[in-house]
This record gives sequence, structure tokens and C-alpha cells, in this order.
Amino acid sequence: MPQTFCLAHLSDPHLTSLSSVHPYELLSKRILGYLSWQLHRRHEHRFEVLQALVHDLHTQQPDHIVVTGDLTQLGLPHEYRQATDWLAQLGPPEKVTVVPGNHDRYVAVPWQDSLGLWQAYLTSDHGGCFFPIVRKRGPVVLLGVDSAPPSAPFLATGKVGKEQLMRLSQLLAEFAHSCCRIVLIHHPPHPDAVQFRKRLTNHAALCDILAKQGCGLVLHGHSHKWQLHWLKGPTLPLPVIGVPSASAWGTERGSLARYHLYRIVPTEEGFNVDVEIRSLCQRTLHFYCQGFFQLKIAG
Ligand SMILES: [Fe+2]
Repeated sequence: MPQTFCLAHLSDPHLTSLSSVHPYELLSKRILGYLSWQLHRRHEHRFEVLQALVHDLHTQQPDHIVVTGDLTQLGLPHEYRQATDWLAQLGPPEKVTVVPGNHDRYVAVPWQDSLGLWQAYLTSDHGGCFFPIVRKRGPVVLLGVDSAPPSAPFLATGKVGKEQLMRLSQLLAEFAHSCCRIVLIHHPPHPDAVQFRKRLTNHAALCDILAKQGCGLVLHGHSHKWQLHWLKGPTLPLPVIGVPSASAWGTERGSLARYHLYRIVPTEEGFNVDVEIRSLCQRTLHFYCQGFFQLKIAG
């Protein structure tokens, strides 16, 4: 009897506070993000919601947890430090994988003050710390893509660089037929998932690679919505799944906080995946099972 591997996916926790930010830290694109946080986002993204999610997640005891970006608001060094402490609560680095989001990369910040602090959660099995991250866990290989180089003011676009695309293509080919290949990316790879100013600008190049090489699942964040989309694959269509923000109170875009549990079982043809949706109950501030759906994927 093949063993079930349980993968938890959460995204966009936006867990950091800007209440003690210094004005000089906002002399860039960050001033726009700060105003947005003051007016809207601090009411929407609530740390107590995220804490309730993490508590529930720990009771579910997944084998691994993935976080698809936007842990911070403006990617300030003090936010990176705060997020590092939170990651330590979430789980040990060998059981938690992170990719960055556009809010983590508002403007360029030296590696040692930014992603370098999360290095243990970004390191591939072979020891390197560059994207795509490669982490093999049970029947699964996680391929973590960085889609979030800093973008211009008023934009939250993403892009996957040429070298990363080339390497991703090689990795998808290398692990075909041996693992359930799961691509982690902050920006959804299909352009209709988000507004034009938030799109992945070179989505066509990524979709071409996925169509040629195939994969089991693509998991993303960024839209703060539950989304299921199917991309063209070499044989079967490829499921692309987005999850709402892990800290959302539901006032901004109508989506309450939730996370997904993927229970993955190898079969003769590929993999069966039971997806459990765990959502926030606003009345009790607890998470509960809202439902399930099933996928059969090629891997
Ligand atoms: Fe976000």
C-alpha cells in the first residue's frame, strides 16, 4: 500500500507590521505600499487569523509546508527579520519551503538583509541557494521559482528570468516519470488570473515549458483568491491552483483566509490527489474543513 504524502500550501500571509517604520525607509516605491497598508491592508491581514491558521496546520501534521510568497508588506529588513521568526514557528527548514512574492521584493535589498535571512528555507537538496529551488520529499519534488524581481511604481508584475526558465525545463525533464513534480510560484502563470498590472509578463514562455515538459501541479498565490485553472500539458491538462491569503479577514476581496492540504498517493498511472480546503470561521476564529476535491495527475 503506497504511503500518502501530505503537503500543505499557504500563501500571502503579509504577517509583518509597519507601525514602527521610519519615514526615511519610505523614500521609494514603498511610500505607495505604505499608504495602501495604512488605508486598507492592515485591516484585512490580521496576525490573529494567521496564528489560528498555523495552530490548525500543526494539528494536521502535514509532511511538508509550502509558502508561495508575500510574507511581508514592503520587504523592509525589519520585516524580513520578523518573518524569519515566524518561519521558525511554522516549522524546521527541512519541512518548510518558501518562494518570494512581489511584496517581499518591493525594491532591491541586499541579499543578507532580505532573502539571505530565509536561506535555510530556500536551499536546494544539493546545497545551492538559487532558483528554481529543488527539494525532493517522499514521492514529490518541489521546484520553487522566483517570479518577483522588483517592479516599477504602481506595478506588481512578475517575471521568470531566462536562466531560471531554462533550468526549470531541465529539472522537469529530469524528474519526469520518477516524482510528482510540483512547481511553486508566487504569480499565477495564466494571465487572466489577476489584473494586467499584476500579471506574470512572460507567462507564455513558462506555459510553453509546462506544456512541453508537463508537471503534476502548479501552486501559486498573489491573487488572494481561490483559483483552479487548467493549462495545456503534454498529455493531460495541468492543474494550477491558487489559495487566498493566509491572514485575510475577507473585507478586501471577499476571500476569507484558507489553506489547502494535498494528500498525494502514487498510482500505476500517476498520482491521486485529495485536496482538503481548510477555511477560517470568523465567528470562532478557528479553521475548519470546508470541503474536498480530487485530482488525478500525471505527475
Ligand atoms: Fe499578496
